[in-house]
Amino acid sequence: MMIGKRLADELNKQINIELFAAYQYFSMAAYCEAKSLDGFASWMKVQAQEELSHALKIYDYLIDRGATVTMLAIEQPKVKFNSVLDAFQTALKNEEDLGTRFNELSEIAREEKDNITYSFLKWFLDEQVEEVALVSSVIDKLKLIGDNGYGLLMLSNELGQRQPEPTAE
Ligand code: FEO
Repeated sequence: MMIGKRLADELNKQINIELFAAYQYFSMAAYCEAKSLDGFASWMKVQAQEELSHALKIYDYLIDRGATVTMLAIEQPKVKFNSVLDAFQTALKNEEDLGTRFNELSEIAREEKDNITYSFLKWFLDEQVEEVALVSSVIDKLKLIGDNGYGLLMLSNELGQRQPEPTAE
């Protein structure tokens, strides 16, 4: 069954939002890289890949449902940060906004009586809960560390161990 135009347009827009999220993480990675905090940068790059995989998941879904996918312009992300904490707080705000957005998309799917899309979106709602928790836990640690350079380096090294997750199908 072909997806309706309203949902197709909203999901097409969501591809753009996920690509923007990736772009924002790349921007944070570049900030950390410039500060020689390679571990944080590596973590951000893994997270950027996650966002790209979210965009692709929606892209594939739209194609499977017979929609036409159109790439939209990607906004410039924030490029200046006051601290690593500031960067992670930007990430948290983004992830919370994404959670709100998937809630809205689920509401639209319900209004459109599209149960297939409603079920497809469930994965993203769960994923957002995980991502908000993940970023929040880093923020908690950064707050404990404060201005301690050694602590910052240790946390950077720890987060740098993160490996990309296998692509979820
Ligand atoms: Fe695409 Fe961080 O959620």
